[in-house]
Amino acid sequence: MARLLITGGAGFIGSHTCLVLLNAGHDLVIFDSFVNSSHFALERVAHLCGISSCEQNIRMKIIKGDIRDQVALKNLFTDATDEDRPIEAVIHFAGLKSVSESINNPMLYWDVNVNGSRCLISTMNKFACTTLVLSSSATLYGAPKSIPIAETASIQPINPYGKTKAAIEQMLSDLKGVNNNWRIASLRYFNPVGAHPTGHIGEDPLDTPHNLFPFLSQVALGKLKLLKVFGGDWPTPDGTCIRDYIHVMDLAEGHLYALDFLLGNSPEMIILNLGSGIGHSVLEVINSFKKTTGKDIPYEIVARRPGDASIAVADPSKAKEKLGWSTTRTLSEICQDGWNWQVTNPNGYSERIV
Ligand SMILES: NC(=O)c1ccc[n+]([C@@H]2O[C@H](COP(=O)([O-])OP(=O)(O)OC[C@H]3O[C@@H](n4cnc5c(N)ncnc54)[C@H](O)[C@@H]3O)[C@@H](O)[C@H]2O)c1
Repeated sequence: MARLLITGGAGFIGSHTCLVLLNAGHDLVIFDSFVNSSHFALERVAHLCGISSCEQNIRMKIIKGDIRDQVALKNLFTDATDEDRPIEAVIHFAGLKSVSESINNPMLYWDVNVNGSRCLISTMNKFACTTLVLSSSATLYGAPKSIPIAETASIQPINPYGKTKAAIEQMLSDLKGVNNNWRIASLRYFNPVGAHPTGHIGEDPLDTPHNLFPFLSQVALGKLKLLKVFGGDWPTPDGTCIRDYIHVMDLAEGHLYALDFLLGNSPEMIILNLGSGIGHSVLEVINSFKKTTGKDIPYEIVARRPGDASIAVADPSKAKEKLGWSTTRTLSEICQDGWNWQVTNPNGYSERIV
């Protein structure tokens, strides 16, 4: 089993993936600034995996730090080598992910996402740690010409967030061109949602939620009065945007499959869509959520949001072919698990259950 560095491992997708990796027997070093996450997420991951506090430093060492801090990264790799347990691979989640924030503050996104990734990747290169699984995003496809979207579709991001993801992929492709030892899986996520079925870990945005599911949950809980649906005049059957929602546990498992693939094959850079291949409109999601939770969801259709595309649905066949991975969880399970997380933790991680 490998020792892995997980950047951003306390975040929404990172915490679920840490759980899957620990259960698969890997040991983790988790590096996170906690700018958008909580230590409690990792405590709960340890609890779910049955990791005691004395085992914690071996199975899941936690380091607070920023990926733009090259000294901190160098120390991390040096310490791991000194402990005679070098880092064999990195799963890189750390970054900022709000489309609207990226439009308002593009320089922050270029700094954290692109410069931060550059710092990480160049430190890995120095320590000859050349296996990387990257969180990329379907946002880099922009407004695609055809649906479902294959990995061969053009890269034409329509917002700074998507542009930073495209830039990181380009940086890695250039690096691979001069150093063939690199094994890289760039995973283009579609819309990650849901939570672990126990309700112990889930999505806990520290500021106002920007994505549909956290919004839906907060409206159902009565914390927000109304769900805003951005645009009712898109060229889709009911006029609302269509997305490919993927259960976060399916997504987390995709990382394990990608890691196993990279470690078990000759060095290559693979780019894979991780999605279900099934599209649901915003109104369909609202109805499914209502049905699952029995809660009324008042909503209002407002103007389109800048930077959105009308339809984004994955062609996930390459991930199936290369990794043998595909999603297994339905929209109804997504709603059930996401809601279970919310009702168990109405204030997110600020209320402890372990
Ligand atoms: N959630 C989505 O809808 C989605 C979709 C596509 C891609 N992604 C990508 O997946 C990754 C994880 O997303 P998430 O939903 O778990 O987000 P998240 O905000 O929950 O997790 C990101 C983690 O990175 C940490 N972080 C942020 N900046 C950092 C820095 N400079 N140094 C160290 N740590 C830092 C945060 O504290 C957080 O724990 C991100 O790279 C995101 O762009 C997310």
